[in-house]
Amino acid sequence: MAFLDVENVVKDFGGLVANNDISFQIEKNEIVGLIGPNGAGKTTLFNCIVGYYKPDKGKIRFKGKDITGFKPFQTSREGIGRTFQIMKVTTGLTVHENVMVGAFLRTEKRAEADKEASEIIEFLGLSHIKDYHINELPIAIQRKVGLARALATKPELLMLDEVASGLNHKETEEMVELLKRLNVEKHITIFLIEHIMEMVMTVSGRVIVLDSGIKIAEGPPEDIVKNPEVIKAYLGERYAKGK
Ligand SMILES: Nc1ncnc2c1ncn2[C@@H]1O[C@H](COP(=O)(O)OP(=O)(O)OP(=O)(O)O)[C@@H](O)[C@H]1O
Ligand SMILES: [Mg+2]
Repeated sequence: MAFLDVENVVKDFGGLVANNDISFQIEKNEIVGLIGPNGAGKTTLFNCIVGYYKPDKGKIRFKGKDITGFKPFQTSREGIGRTFQIMKVTTGLTVHENVMVGAFLRTEKRAEADKEASEIIEFLGLSHIKDYHINELPIAIQRKVGLARALATKPELLMLDEVASGLNHKETEEMVELLKRLNVEKHITIFLIEHIMEMVMTVSGRVIVLDSGIKIAEGPPEDIVKNPEVIKAYLGERYAKGK
């Protein structure tokens, strides 16, 4: 039994098939990357898994349980945490309060949520900005707050949608270290969408590639970078642009 089992998932937006019969599995403790050109269907696939969208066809199982059609708060309770490509943090709240919102999924006690938020904020090195309002911060930091909030829900599976986007080289390296620590020390399985190849290929044990809603490849990063179909659909174009 796979930890996450995605079977024949289809998501059709009125004729635009954003996810076309997608199947793959993720085992516990893996770090798996999801790559592909803009509009390939990566975020849509995340949204189908976490229940932001209901797939038109197919099944999603998490730890053996059929979670197809679950709502986001339900998949969150099952142990799936996610961050958003476009930030959905609550702008009226401070960083600390945003992270508390995540912690409230697991506890009703304010003092407990407060303590957990402080611990996570410290773990992510965000203590110096904990009292800032979200809209006062750069987007890249906002994404990190999104990560803190997702962590506060105590996920077993953490799904990250371009969490390193906008980070500089050093910050990207720090993010890689952070994800490895979450994986090794906190035993969190990670599934990440990323356009920064040096990051996704470094951190992932396995990579899945989407193009126009179809899964075109899956394998270890060293095979993916050599795969002619992947180079044609995505990597060649990006490398040519020098990204
Ligand atoms: N709610 C929606 N309604 C209609 N079409 C949508 C919706 N969400 C996504 N799409 C379309 O589905 C396709 C896949 O979009 P998606 O956001 O999943 O791509 P992506 O791989 O995450 O791209 P990017 O790398 O730019 O984030 C695109 O053509 C997009 O315009
Ligand atoms: Mg996307």
